[in-house]
Amino acid sequence: MIITHAETDGFKNLKEISFDPDPKYNIITGRNAQGKTNLLEVMWIMSGCKSFRGSKEKDYISLEKNRMSAGIKILDSVREQTIKLEMTRDRNAPKTILLNGVRQKGTKALFNTFKCIAFIPDDTEIIKGSPERRRSFVDMAASQLEPRFISHINRSNSVMNQRNSLLKQIMNGADRSILEIWDRQASHEGAVISYMRNSYVEKTSEICGKLYRMISGGSETMQLEYKSNVFGKEDFLTPCGDAAYEQYYRKLRESAEYDIRTGSTHSGVNRDEIIIKINGLSAKDYASQGQIKSAALVMKLAQAEIFMQRSDDAPVIFLDDVMGELDENRQRFVFDIIKNMQVFVTTPNAGSLLPEIKGRIMHISDGRITDA
Ligand SMILES: Nc1ncnc2c1ncn2[C@@H]1O[C@H](COP(=O)(O)OP(=O)(O)OP(=O)(O)O)[C@@H](O)[C@H]1O
Ligand SMILES: [Mg+2]
Repeated sequence: MIITHAETDGFKNLKEISFDPDPKYNIITGRNAQGKTNLLEVMWIMSGCKSFRGSKEKDYISLEKNRMSAGIKILDSVREQTIKLEMTRDRNAPKTILLNGVRQKGTKALFNTFKCIAFIPDDTEIIKGSPERRRSFVDMAASQLEPRFISHINRSNSVMNQRNSLLKQIMNGADRSILEIWDRQASHEGAVISYMRNSYVEKTSEICGKLYRMISGGSETMQLEYKSNVFGKEDFLTPCGDAAYEQYYRKLRESAEYDIRTGSTHSGVNRDEIIIKINGLSAKDYASQGQIKSAALVMKLAQAEIFMQRSDDAPVIFLDDVMGELDENRQRFVFDIIKNMQVFVTTPNAGSLLPEIKGRIMHISDGRITDA
């Protein structure tokens, strides 16, 4: 899919922006702090995902304004669609989302419509950050392939929040029999999530292995392992069903006493780990800076590759400040994988990009676009 038109006004420092991107490569240049990342970010949030740099929604609106608007047109193999987003500081009417002119209750429809992958310098946290970072990467990438997954994650999170507040109430003397009802629900969602994570990690490990061998010149290996808190490797050989729900339920019941004493849940998908290994060693603990950077890049490239295998439409690629940092060989390696997709690259220095990355060059200065 490609973005055929993008516009925004009042998103952070961006002002009166309206442009028709190149169907292939778009290079966004400009000095530091002019709005390059903001421009990627505003297109990215049209996918219904939270900001890739962790900005809060209230900070989307320009400090000098009370409202922001943004819109994109997306063309995929079937049709062209429009997404519009408006936000105001008015607490009673904070957000309006329109898909093809029809008002949407939440962001789910956007998530199903616009698929993109952002490469950002902070991606190294997927490798060296907390287990939660890896879980959310896998959850998000798997949901992009199979949008029903997102409903399981949302339901699981909400059941967990309710379970945790119930645990605190039980600690203070409330009836504990309701806990079993929550645990039945949590087991259903948790088992589905575990099986999805297992299947995504298996697939991504295979592709990361291949890509990492290439990026390291054939000398190094990379693999991923899903360590479920509930299931063993052999459990995943049978499809997710009643036996899996029951196994998950038993695990929750086993830790119930301890959970009540501490007021939080100690088993289930929130305790899963995804172990990333380079040359057989845990990357989080042993990898060098360069290995971490390459591994992060490879994780995102694998996400793009898996997406391409499963769908007729390629995702749109956003590269924020990552290309210029790579040496020529690595740039070429990345470019080779994404060369048939629509790409948006930001860099303060267009001269640091490979000569074959030619396309539309847009210059950003003080939140406005001027074609260079
Ligand atoms: N809500 C907001 N209202 C107004 N300006 C904002 C808001 N949020 C962020 N900004 C400003 O937007 C400017 C541009 O930020 P952005 O991250 O897009 O810069 P950039 O061009 O990517 O710079 P760099 O090359 O350093 O990455 C910053 O100066 C920031 O202070
Ligand atoms: Mg930036």
